[in-house]
Amino acid sequence: MAKIQSVGVMTSGGDSPGMNAAIRAVVRTGVSNGLDIYGIYRGYEGLIDGTIEKMGSRSVSNIIQRGGTILKSARSQRFLTEEGRRIAYENLQKNKIDALVVIGGNGTFTGAIQFASEYSDYPIIGLPGTIDNDLYGTDFTIGFDTAVNTVLDAADKIRDTATSHDRLFFIEVMGRDSGYLALYSGIAAGAEFILVPETKTYPDNLARVLKYDMGKNKTSGIVIVAEGDDEGGAYEIAAKVRERLPHIDTRVTILGHIQRGGAPTANDRNLASILGYSAIVALLEGKKGVMAGMVDKNVVLTSFEEAVNKKKEFLFNMLEVSRILAI
Ligand code: F6P
Repeated sequence: MAKIQSVGVMTSGGDSPGMNAAIRAVVRTGVSNGLDIYGIYRGYEGLIDGTIEKMGSRSVSNIIQRGGTILKSARSQRFLTEEGRRIAYENLQKNKIDALVVIGGNGTFTGAIQFASEYSDYPIIGLPGTIDNDLYGTDFTIGFDTAVNTVLDAADKIRDTATSHDRLFFIEVMGRDSGYLALYSGIAAGAEFILVPETKTYPDNLARVLKYDMGKNKTSGIVIVAEGDDEGGAYEIAAKVRERLPHIDTRVTILGHIQRGGAPTANDRNLASILGYSAIVALLEGKKGVMAGMVDKNVVLTSFEEAVNKKKEFLFNMLEVSRILAI
């Protein structure tokens, strides 16, 4: 394959804090290696629409501290079609873009796998950008740490009012298929209970434990509910508990999209910077079809297939820790 001279960078799927830091690292590492770098707007949608702009070092000034993504993001339905991918490929050819760095999650990498299989292994490197932390091949995804801290800030505030009124709160956090955000924020918030999609929830058991907890002179209670819990979101779970414990004063808070915004933490900025740099290095070394992640403080490349299809190990023992610490 001819030497790579130009690289396109895009963000795709749900945005996450630290995506800008990753874009900055890709652009500046590319420029310092003499590459032409192109920003593609709105992920695969922009690739199909041809909304592509050349970027230089100054295009990414002052963005390391900003949440969201300056390249905007989208979940593209058109890229799921053969026709959409063909137009995308033609746009890459037209703009003479030799390789891509895609920053996103599961859907983003699934699109990359399909694209590379049709277009003779077009070089694509992925960076894990999602607050869900649900990708195999990296200890943490870019944006997760910030989201945990956002939930924690909210949960601490809710604890204040919960204590003042002797109330039990059900706080719903994001995570359709993954309980990582619930787990990490729940432990840090000192939650009484954490409900995640990875384990089955038994409302009778939950109510029994909460009754026991609230009977121990506790002046507040917090249950963190991942939105994808098998018994439903926070409203559904709270209703099931209320049926069983009508005397307990309960409230529900859905945190929603505030979890996706905000200035990235130092951890997310550092992770994004190292991985953004590594994406360009990997492309220059001839790597493709892999996600750059960080495992045990080392940069590790994992095939898109594994990153998407292998289930990241869930830390069930941390759920146990949270219960013990809630006595
Ligand atoms: O994939 C990240 C995520 O934040 C999920 O946790 C959540 O279920 C989903 O995105 C929400 O997506 P949208 O912004 O399309 O509502």
